[in-house]
Amino acid sequence: MPDWLDTQLRWLQATPLGDAVRSAPFMYPTLEALHILGIALLVGPAFAFDLRLLGGGRRLMSVTTAARHLLPLSHVGLVVALATGVALMSAQPIVVAGSSAAPWKLGLLLLAGLNILVFHRGVYRRVGQWAKASATPIAARVAAGVSLTAWTGVIFAGRFLAYI
Ligand code: HEM
Repeated sequence: MPDWLDTQLRWLQATPLGDAVRSAPFMYPTLEALHILGIALLVGPAFAFDLRLLGGGRRLMSVTTAARHLLPLSHVGLVVALATGVALMSAQPIVVAGSSAAPWKLGLLLLAGLNILVFHRGVYRRVGQWAKASATPIAARVAAGVSLTAWTGVIFAGRFLAYI
């Protein structure tokens, strides 16, 4: 592990947050439960939107209606998952970072984040032209496939953190 990362992780471990998560009764399992709720709120609406991009429910709603309803929920879930994830990690950051699942989790999180940026700055800017079309553009379907795969991978890597 590079020195700068080791220093950052030791700093996180020594913060009052790390102290509290290690020692306050029921704090760790409570954070785990909130982490899972955040993940559900992130992935549930995101996957429903991805399925709409792949053509599911196209007779029921336009892509823009789906986006307006689902994406704000997903963004709240992302904030909750990130905040509780950092809090969980603060208990034992060096142990967590030493897991072979950690680079997978971080890498797939970055891929999922990059995919959101590329989608919103790319094909979604022209959504007015295809929101009600019977087939969505290939770039939108690729973004949906990457999202489904990357978030699923983050969930697997998150579970594996405790085991490998
Ligand atoms: C900054 C972001 C995040 C950090 C630092 C983080 C860190 C952690 C830590 C430390 C654990 C506990 C591992 C253990 O029990 O030993 C965990 C569990 C988990 N994480 Fe994250 N996490 C983050 C975001 C996410 C996101 C966005 C997802 C999914 C979309 C996710 C999925 C999971 C899953 C499925 C578990 C297992 C939960 C359980 O079995 O209780 N994490 N995470």
